[in-house]
Amino acid sequence: MNEAARAGHPLRYTEDGATPMVLAEELEADPHTVCARYRTLSPVVARSTGGFVVLGAAEIDALLKDDRVRSAKAETNRAKGITDGPLWEFYRLSMQVDGPEHRKRRAPFTQTFALRLIEQTRPMIRALAHRLIDNWIQGGPVNFVDDFAKQLPALTIAHILGIPEEDVPHFTTLSNEAARVTGFNWGPEELPLMQEACRQMVSLVERMLMDRRSRPREDFLSRYLAEIDVKADGLSAEEAVAQIVLLIAAGIETTRFADVALVSLLMQHRGQWDAICRNPELAPRAVREALRFEPSVGTIVRVSAEPLAIGGRVMPARQLIHLSLLSASRDERIYQRPGEFDIMREDLPRTNIGFGGGMHRCLGDSLALAELEESLIALTQRVPQLRLAGAAPQIRGHSGVRRIEGMQVVW
Ligand code: HEM
Repeated sequence: MNEAARAGHPLRYTEDGATPMVLAEELEADPHTVCARYRTLSPVVARSTGGFVVLGAAEIDALLKDDRVRSAKAETNRAKGITDGPLWEFYRLSMQVDGPEHRKRRAPFTQTFALRLIEQTRPMIRALAHRLIDNWIQGGPVNFVDDFAKQLPALTIAHILGIPEEDVPHFTTLSNEAARVTGFNWGPEELPLMQEACRQMVSLVERMLMDRRSRPREDFLSRYLAEIDVKADGLSAEEAVAQIVLLIAAGIETTRFADVALVSLLMQHRGQWDAICRNPELAPRAVREALRFEPSVGTIVRVSAEPLAIGGRVMPARQLIHLSLLSASRDERIYQRPGEFDIMREDLPRTNIGFGGGMHRCLGDSLALAELEESLIALTQRVPQLRLAGAAPQIRGHSGVRRIEGMQVVW
């Protein structure tokens, strides 16, 4: 009997008794506890509503690089009841597919989002962070989620793409609504809202690209159109639109979550916050540790055309495989004291699994790190006495982009 079972948590198995099985709703409700309970038992477990969950960091890393394992957007969407409409079309056209289509759709961005170029955006990000703090009421209380964490990634991507600032709130609302589709935690009655948000996003981006086509200017979208004409052979107008919609949608909610989790964790570990106030060079460590401790994206989903053997268990072909980045981030085979938040830990990862891996590894990882580091440096310099007004925000969810709400701060 393992420790969790002794502590009164019953361990479940599939009917044939061969494979441990997690209840999907338990995983959503208390992911760290449930993952830790099963991870010591097996690197892969069955999921009560179908498919498997891979819990081990080494196993996830290997699957992300395995040629037999492919992106499962179509299968995942079907499992969620999405078989047509704007969301189905968006995923079909976006870079979240495999093979030559993926390479063709991702290629025009690899230069722009490379570390070297992203470093040049830091002064702009820093200025935005300071501007947001300037708008806070002296002493607070401030709604940190709405008045900082939500705005910084939206304004940053708007500046990079050349979207007017007045359009940002509308884009953010649509993007957050559409991005909820990545989870498995919504009901069928919510789908029409997400479809509509996606339709509106596509139509806004279509208009922006048409505008740049007729009146090119010195900005990212005009350069993107010029580049795809030369390099991305045969990229259709619809594909061009889908990639820009993805860039907007992929970076806002994920970075918002990460920023709130980062500051909330540091507020709860005051000594570590104070250390960054004294030495801003610790900011990159703090960001990496927060991304490990509470990753924004709990799971990514894949499918295999062949049966796959992992840790002595076989996952049959064509089953959804949920790779738990959340579990990998606290795998005791990689980290000492995985359940402790410690920005000085010696085993801090250089390459964070929270950004995925393999050919679909996050395109915006350098940008996200720059935003989170610049946020933290600005906050620790400007409002070192910052503290939570009330309880720390609750972090919820395991599948897709996780949820964190309601953080008030004062200083
Ligand atoms: C803390 C913030 C972020 C986190 C935790 C995060 C996480 C991830 C993860 C886990 C994936 C892999 C998905 C998969 O393999 O199925 C991914 C893909 C992606 N991310 Fe991010 N992301 C963040 C911010 C951003 C930003 C700021 C952008 C761009 C502005 C961005 C753009 C993308 C794109 C385009 C993909 C798809 C890449 C592909 O399929 O080739 N992300 N992200």
